[in-house]
Amino acid sequence: MSKVAVVTGSAGGLGRGIAEQLIQDGFRVVLHDINEVLLNQTVEELKQQGADVIGVPGDVSKRADQFYVVEKAVEAFGQLDVFVNNAGIDVVTPFLEINEAELNRVFAINVNGVVFGTQAAAQQFIKQQTKGKIINACSIAGHESYEMLATYSASKHAVRSFTHASSKELAKYNITVNAYCPGVAKTKMWDRIDEEMVRHSDGALQIGEAFEQFSAGISLGRYQIPEDVGNLVSFLASDKADYITGQAIITDGGLVYR
Ligand SMILES: NC(=O)c1ccc[n+]([C@@H]2O[C@H](COP(=O)([O-])OP(=O)(O)OC[C@H]3O[C@@H](n4cnc5c(N)ncnc54)[C@H](O)[C@@H]3O)[C@@H](O)[C@H]2O)c1
Repeated sequence: MSKVAVVTGSAGGLGRGIAEQLIQDGFRVVLHDINEVLLNQTVEELKQQGADVIGVPGDVSKRADQFYVVEKAVEAFGQLDVFVNNAGIDVVTPFLEINEAELNRVFAINVNGVVFGTQAAAQQFIKQQTKGKIINACSIAGHESYEMLATYSASKHAVRSFTHASSKELAKYNITVNAYCPGVAKTKMWDRIDEEMVRHSDGALQIGEAFEQFSAGISLGRYQIPEDVGNLVSFLASDKADYITGQAIITDGGLVYR
């Protein structure tokens, strides 16, 4: 029987790219997103292409929603093999203007979401008595800290820490936990970051220029596309990555060197 993966935040952006790659790899995939309209549309498109997928709407910051998506995955497909904690949000703010609501919102989704997803998936793997793979969305901002992206960078550093710690605790169950750290990918997230950086630049930047400046430093000379991220996740989700755990691997075309 083919393996089953849940990918959170997969109605669009990198999550959709990851889901499409896993489908190509032969997975049955549960798409999960807070944007129900886009989720339904994406699920329909993928089904028309012959994919064995279902969609489950939910909010990763809600613990119950994460256990619900695992329950639905098992109900539909009988098992769970891979859980991708992909959903995440960005925020661009000068440090002195960061407020309580922003901190709470970003951490609730980017950090609490990863913790709850990991707990829900691990509980299922332990129940099944099978090996399992948990794969988290980190970022180059989980290795480096950027101006105007302090809250986001801190949240991704927290994801890297939870990746390390959970991998140590879950190893005895043959569950691996790793993270992918994308660089500068042209998704809706970067459209928003660019827009906000331009807004905060006091006229120094035009639309598209913040994105261009970030991309200019990429050694391979192009920005990232969802397929680039899908390829790394495909490897981490495969048996070939069985002996890798607790790693936060950068895929950025050569921008941040660790
Ligand atoms: N785009 C980049 O350059 C980049 C770089 C590094 C890391 N990342 C990380 O990769 C992941 C995906 O980024 P993206 O660029 O595809 O973002 P995106 O904004 O384009 O897409 C994110 C998806 O997650 C969904 N989502 C948002 N909040 C949610 C919630 N609470 N519960 C469930 N779903 C929710 C959105 O509806 C959307 O479909 C994020 O964790 C992000 O931090 C992105």
